[in-house]
Amino acid sequence: MTDTHICGIDIGSSKIATVVAIQAKDTDEIRIIGFNTTASRGVKKGLIVDIDEVSAAIDESVDKAERMAGHKINRAYVSVGGPHISSLNSHGVVAVSNPQGEIVGADVERVIDAARAISLSTTRQIIEVSPREYSVDGQSGIKNAIGMSGVRLEVDTHIITASSTNLKNIDRCLSDLGIENAGFVFSGLAASEAVLTETEKDLGVAVVDIGGGKTDICIYVDGALSYSASIPIGAKHISNDIAVGLRVSLQSADKIKLFLSKKVSVFTDIHHKKGEAIALSELQIPEALPDVTAKNILEGIIWPRLEEIYRCIEDEIEKSGFEKQIPSGLIITGGGALTAGMIEAGKRMVGLPIRIGVPDKVTGLVDEILDPQYASTIGLILCSKSHIMDDQGSSMKFTRLFKDFSFDFSFGKIKSMFKQFMP
Ligand SMILES: Nc1ncnc2c1ncn2[C@@H]1O[C@H](COP(=O)(O)OP(=O)(O)OP(=O)(O)O)[C@@H](O)[C@H]1O
Ligand SMILES: [Mg+2]
Repeated sequence: MTDTHICGIDIGSSKIATVVAIQAKDTDEIRIIGFNTTASRGVKKGLIVDIDEVSAAIDESVDKAERMAGHKINRAYVSVGGPHISSLNSHGVVAVSNPQGEIVGADVERVIDAARAISLSTTRQIIEVSPREYSVDGQSGIKNAIGMSGVRLEVDTHIITASSTNLKNIDRCLSDLGIENAGFVFSGLAASEAVLTETEKDLGVAVVDIGGGKTDICIYVDGALSYSASIPIGAKHISNDIAVGLRVSLQSADKIKLFLSKKVSVFTDIHHKKGEAIALSELQIPEALPDVTAKNILEGIIWPRLEEIYRCIEDEIEKSGFEKQIPSGLIITGGGALTAGMIEAGKRMVGLPIRIGVPDKVTGLVDEILDPQYASTIGLILCSKSHIMDDQGSSMKFTRLFKDFSFDFSFGKIKSMFKQFMP
């Protein structure tokens, strides 16, 4: 096995980030050799709203990352997120092909195929099937069934679906640029791979990726992905609120937000007197600012929006039914995680442990990318790692399955699946 190049394109509402990495041939180490981030265009709340604009932004980002890496990107994993994402848990059962022998990879593949045979509307497509646990002859809680003896194999899977139209639009952008789509990865899942520890996954945890236009949520219970969702509020809404509240442009509002977030450490109290001492005049905003202190902005504008974001997160956690099973609490990541008061608001609202998730599982050109806003970008590379292992048959654990990546390929497959349900 030679060194493998892995590429990821993270299409966000605020930025398009491209990353090129090398997976060393004999170690598990992943080294970043190329990276670029470009302001996003034509994406709103995770949905593509202008194909030409998005293609141009992706082209720019890919081109710069290629130059840095000295490697042409022909194939890349792509992030997908936003409120068009939905998830469900599905069960599959099969008879083991050789009841006298052991359960083999083909049996596991069949049982997962059985679990993915769900009835879906024609406008939806499966982007992820992740096994949660197996049962062999009624004995549940099995993480890897290969090598066990039994006659009846069952699996509980977590399935993530997305809007076909949006996936088709992303495919169109990539094919315009001559890049093959290696697979769609839910951006919340990618972020989780980048920031979670195995212990947190085992204990139960919720990862919250607060981007510009949306917030993705993934819940892990007993080491397995068990719930995924996305809500249409992100950190851009905080900038909008500041723009409206202070009657300044969006650019100035963004500047004020970033300035305050840097000045007020995420661990200090935004209600603290300290807020009064922060002088906004340092910023040299072109507009005349009304007579407000930083403390007024923090308490009166940013805080209420943070409370709203946490209320939506709480609602999703409640909807998942796993609210009692996440003792590791919330891991907040994405650019919005660095907003002033984020941790403090979470602690008051949710009553669970909270930490900021930083994607630190890679080496190489990492200085710039060790930042929560690149969690989903780095996660694309980490998710693809298990996919490559499955492809090459060197790992038969099937801990994660990526299928139906190319739209053309999967459409035919899904169509044939639907035929089973048609009268
Ligand atoms: N240091 C910081 N402090 C406060 N806010 C920040 C900081 N860095 C980035 N942000 C905010 O985070 C948001 C962008 O986050 P991110 O890059 O994760 O979004 P995205 O992935 O492009 O969007 P999405 O995931 O919603 O499609 C912007 O609103 C930006 O203002
Ligand atoms: Mg994002």
